[in-house]
Amino acid sequence: MISIKQINEKDIDLCYELDSNTISLWSKKQWANEFKKEGVKVFGLSLANLVIGICVLHMVLDEVQINYFAVNEKFRNKGLGSYLMSYLIKVCESLNINKLVLEVSKSNTKAEKFYSRFDFFTVGIRRNYYKDGSDALLKEKILTTK
Ligand SMILES: CC(C)(COP(=O)(O)OP(=O)(O)OC[C@H]1O[C@@H](n2cnc3c(N)ncnc32)[C@H](O)[C@@H]1OP(=O)(O)O)[C@@H](O)C(=O)NCCC(=O)NCCS
Repeated sequence: MISIKQINEKDIDLCYELDSNTISLWSKKQWANEFKKEGVKVFGLSLANLVIGICVLHMVLDEVQINYFAVNEKFRNKGLGSYLMSYLIKVCESLNINKLVLEVSKSNTKAEKFYSRFDFFTVGIRRNYYKDGSDALLKEKILTTK
């Protein structure tokens, strides 16, 4: 069964493990710092009690920055990332958030396509932003408030 729940700093090991097996973005210390930031909410996507996807949202006023979004490689291309993203969009809408923003490497075509499907549009570019020299695309999605 698929479920999504908010997770807290007690689950740092779990976050670090999933990250190490996916995009290796943060050290354990960096994960700990994320949990400490005001306005940060971390969501875990589970399949039969196994966390296979994680998303970190950072809320600042009426805007949410997606600081982290990944699904365990073994479980990709099954609609699970879309399930998590659709859930997060609903959460943001219920909190009257107006805009979702994120950064993604220009070379990460898979993720770029994924975000395009959710109507994230490129609004800026940071040259040589990542360690591998690739550019970061700044993307945003405007949420329509009811
Ligand atoms: C980007 C990412 C989160 C997508 O997660 P995912 O679980 O694979 O996402 P989905 O399965 O919902 O969608 C991926 C593809 O599978 C397809 N798909 C969805 N359900 C499917 C199914 N049942 N059968 C076959 N294909 C399916 C989707 O159409 C989509 O294809 P497209 O991108 O060509 O349009 C994942 O690739 C990932 O974790 N990447 C590494 C981390 C990363 O790059 N994060 C972003 C950095 S900012």
